[in-house]
Amino acid sequence: MKGIILAGGSGTRLYPLTKGQSKQLLAIHDKPMIYYPLSVLMLAGIKDILIISTPNDLPNFKRLFDDGSSIGIKISYAQQMNPNGIAEAFIIGEKFIGKSNVCLILGDNIFYGVGFTKLLKKSVKEISSSNNALVFGYYVENAESYGVVENNSDGNVISIEEKPKFPKSNYAVVGLYFYPNSVVEIAKKIKPSERGELEITSINQNFLKNKQLKVELLDKDFTWLDSGTHESMLEASNYIHTIEKRKGRKVACIEEIAYVLGLISKNDLINLAKPIQNNQYGKYLIEKVLK
Ligand code: DAU
Repeated sequence: MKGIILAGGSGTRLYPLTKGQSKQLLAIHDKPMIYYPLSVLMLAGIKDILIISTPNDLPNFKRLFDDGSSIGIKISYAQQMNPNGIAEAFIIGEKFIGKSNVCLILGDNIFYGVGFTKLLKKSVKEISSSNNALVFGYYVENAESYGVVENNSDGNVISIEEKPKFPKSNYAVVGLYFYPNSVVEIAKKIKPSERGELEITSINQNFLKNKQLKVELLDKDFTWLDSGTHESMLEASNYIHTIEKRKGRKVACIEEIAYVLGLISKNDLINLAKPIQNNQYGKYLIEKVLK
């Protein structure tokens, strides 16, 4: 399975913060926002990853990750000329996806919870053995701000709508999507919505129409944050800070994940940590991960 991180968009909601740089490179506590979705793909076992962003911002992502080899994965890059919608990722990424199944994650989504890696691995497996798409629902108070999924009592999906004025449930569709290869052809066929975007929800509606959409509801104990506003960024930073301090372990430390998964050697990790051994991030790698 291949992975795509969509990290473009105009970021105007966060101006002036995002006038000079991409939203997904802003800090969530001690690391760039994009580390969080990247760590999710790595934990899912996905090693071939495409980062899609604006022509202006792509060079900064390249500076951060290069070709991904320092963390034992392959990262490539593609431009989205305009924010034409999340579903455009599959059109831009067509060649990259090739004949594979694909997992898309939004560059501003943060996930944290016990059993998450297990869920990711199960999802990858499920897609490889069926033609179903798999998305996740999460209980929120402000469902009208998201894609919203309505289930019946048997757990089957009845409807899925993008930012409905009157949500049919409190279950938001999170920005993590697993699709079979057919998503590319579906993305090419959908039409822009009233707000002029190729909606990810239109893709999901298509799978639903073909009885190929599975929605798994995430447990309430699980944390899903999106960091699209000043307030939600601050909340996410505080949340990550609190957890890291309390547990003495970092969340979404991609260098640690690469080492633990065996994607890089002890020496590789030492080489990554050495230049930053005087700051808390480097110290963590040396004193906690390498121990
Ligand atoms: O976070 C989950 C929600 O994400 C879903 O529940 C919704 O169904 C889905 O439409 C999306 O809603 P948002 O209102 O959060 O989408 P937004 O336009 O903020 O875009 C999400 C991220 O994707 C953001 O970091 C920018 C990036 N993006 C967005 C668009 C439209 C791109 O890179 N290119 C784009 O064309």
